[in-house]
Amino acid sequence: MENIVILTGAGISAESGLGTFRDAGGLWERHRVEDVASPEGFARDPALVQRFYNARRAAASAARPNAAHTALARLQRDYPGQVTLVTQNVDALHEAAGSNEVLHMHGALAGALCPACGHRWPAPAQMETAHPCPACHQPGARPDIVWFGEMPYHMETILTRLAACSYFVAIGTSGQVYPAAGFVQEADANGAHTLELNLEASARHSAFAEVRQGRASDLVPTWVAEMLAEADR
Ligand code: APR
Repeated sequence: MENIVILTGAGISAESGLGTFRDAGGLWERHRVEDVASPEGFARDPALVQRFYNARRAAASAARPNAAHTALARLQRDYPGQVTLVTQNVDALHEAAGSNEVLHMHGALAGALCPACGHRWPAPAQMETAHPCPACHQPGARPDIVWFGEMPYHMETILTRLAACSYFVAIGTSGQVYPAAGFVQEADANGAHTLELNLEASARHSAFAEVRQGRASDLVPTWVAEMLAEADR
């Protein structure tokens, strides 16, 4: 079995009813990024930012994993330690499908963060700006989401796994946000086979050795079945 790194984006959760960012009607058509996904926006109007993430947290908690999430969880289960799952998504659908090690490089709606002392704790369903930090009791808690201009989480682990992988798969991402959009380059430079599974050609599709277009709930189970059959040969 190859050492696989999988990167998922909003497209894998689209069929679970969660909006993507850049498709028609996407989140960035209805909200200004600088207002709801930047430290400056949070400083300017924290209540607006909390409302944005409270709505996304409510939608995400009502969503159910689809066949793509379930297939990836099976691959991880059947080949423990050989499948690194990195997601740009902040929903918990991979975990709900049974994936245990999920590297949320852009944070998670389930988390709250204290800007004053750095303490992290499980976010309440509806988070208020005056929400005091359980550790230092300062108000001003924020969603534990990586905003534009901030350093993504787990980068050291991700780059180490990319350097050692023989297979890199990107699923449901437009390839427009770095550093995630550059992972295919890292993997390719290390001789890995690179595969894009996406509804349409992403901004980085030409960097992939193989591109399959379609819905994640169709493409991912088919690809996982191929990998499992190959491993059993
Ligand atoms: N199956 C497969 N792919 C799909 C599906 C589907 N059912 N529906 C949409 N897609 C594809 C779209 O074609 C698009 O290429 O998913 C991609 C979603 O792209 P974006 O909306 O840009 O989302 P993503 O790539 O995850 O954004 C990356 O940008 O705003 C930041 O932090 C945010 O994590 C996010 C990052």
